[in-house]
Amino acid sequence: MTSQPTVGGFLRIEDVVKSFDGTVAVDHVNLELAQGEIFALLGSSGCGKTTLLRMVAGFERPTSGRLLLEGRDLVALPPYERPLNMMFQSYALFPHLSVADNVGFGLKRAGMPSAEIAARVEALLTLVQLSRLAQRKPHQLSGGQQQRVALARSLARQPKLLLLDEPLGALDRKLREETRIELVHIIKQVGVTCLMVTHDQEEAMTMASRMAVMHEGRILQIGTPDEIYERPSSRFVADFIGNVNLMDVQVQSVTDRQWTLSTTDVPHLLAERWSASPSQPVSVALRPEKIRLTRQPPEHPGVNAVKGVVRDKAYCGSFTLYHLGLPSGAVLKVAPTNVDRSVQSDLAVGEEAWAHWSATAPVVLSC
Ligand SMILES: Nc1ncnc2c1ncn2[C@@H]1O[C@H](COP(=O)(O)OP(=O)(O)OP(=O)(O)O)[C@@H](O)[C@H]1O
Ligand SMILES: [Mg+2]
Repeated sequence: MTSQPTVGGFLRIEDVVKSFDGTVAVDHVNLELAQGEIFALLGSSGCGKTTLLRMVAGFERPTSGRLLLEGRDLVALPPYERPLNMMFQSYALFPHLSVADNVGFGLKRAGMPSAEIAARVEALLTLVQLSRLAQRKPHQLSGGQQQRVALARSLARQPKLLLLDEPLGALDRKLREETRIELVHIIKQVGVTCLMVTHDQEEAMTMASRMAVMHEGRILQIGTPDEIYERPSSRFVADFIGNVNLMDVQVQSVTDRQWTLSTTDVPHLLAERWSASPSQPVSVALRPEKIRLTRQPPEHPGVNAVKGVVRDKAYCGSFTLYHLGLPSGAVLKVAPTNVDRSVQSDLAVGEEAWAHWSATAPVVLSC
């Protein structure tokens, strides 16, 4: 491998394209990962996540673009010479081998002496809390335990980069939630840099320090989970992550601090100043949990307010989701938290109510 100076990130994906018989699966992707970070690629089915991961792992060759790990070109290397490991969604454990032999498989193939293999396997099984089950076969384990064997096996050769394709996809919802924290804990303990793909936004947001939203082969936005949720850069990202109200707006005025916009239902909609240009067509994204719902109009004059009729209501435990019918016929989703047991749950279908929110709640979007 030729050694080149590391420029910037630990892993650099530079303008990578992959087409299969003229169909573009990955479309000019640029991404940079810092050493030690957990980065999640989030996108719906077929958007190119696995293809991108497989190119980093070496199972696919990019049509164009560069892949660099610590400044060294990866594309020239066959998969087994890349200092990384990819854990597949199906785990691909060997059914006839014990847990310990599954974990030690790659080490044995690499010619490591058996005493060293035994010590490394023991350490890894302790890390994933499976020492007790070392002699079991994969079919004698639960889904969560199999996932941990696969993780231990991926870490056996001490990769610099760990690629996880839907790491918790095979587990049921409850186990997935519990395993997320455990997985992050193990990855951080080992200190390995991790690029994971998932179509589960909650998984991406809870596990990753930064994430990218992907759509039709392209990356639409890169940021920390809260940046992406609170400051989405496009209608697509706002709508893809979480629940949202999207409104078409006309720009009335823009000052240093504030936009004044208008919609059919809210003639003076106030929003914080955003980077979008007022000459472009703009829209507004408003998260349902940032809206308050009361019988009386708001007392404070500086807030956005609109009166509507409760069309629908769903009790969701920690919050209640209301559909408020507005005068234009549009429906506003409002999701107040159930902080006490009485106030909002009093509002019945058919009742009139005021929805109100501060100028800092809406996000102005330019596309
Ligand atoms: N070997 C291949 N030959 C032809 N087309 C392919 C091949 N591999 C992937 N594709 C196509 O590339 C696109 C991206 O596929 P990919 O598997 O990367 O999606 P994904 O984001 O991982 O989806 P999922 O969430 O369903 O796993 C899809 O349209 C898929 O059909
Ligand atoms: Mg996939």
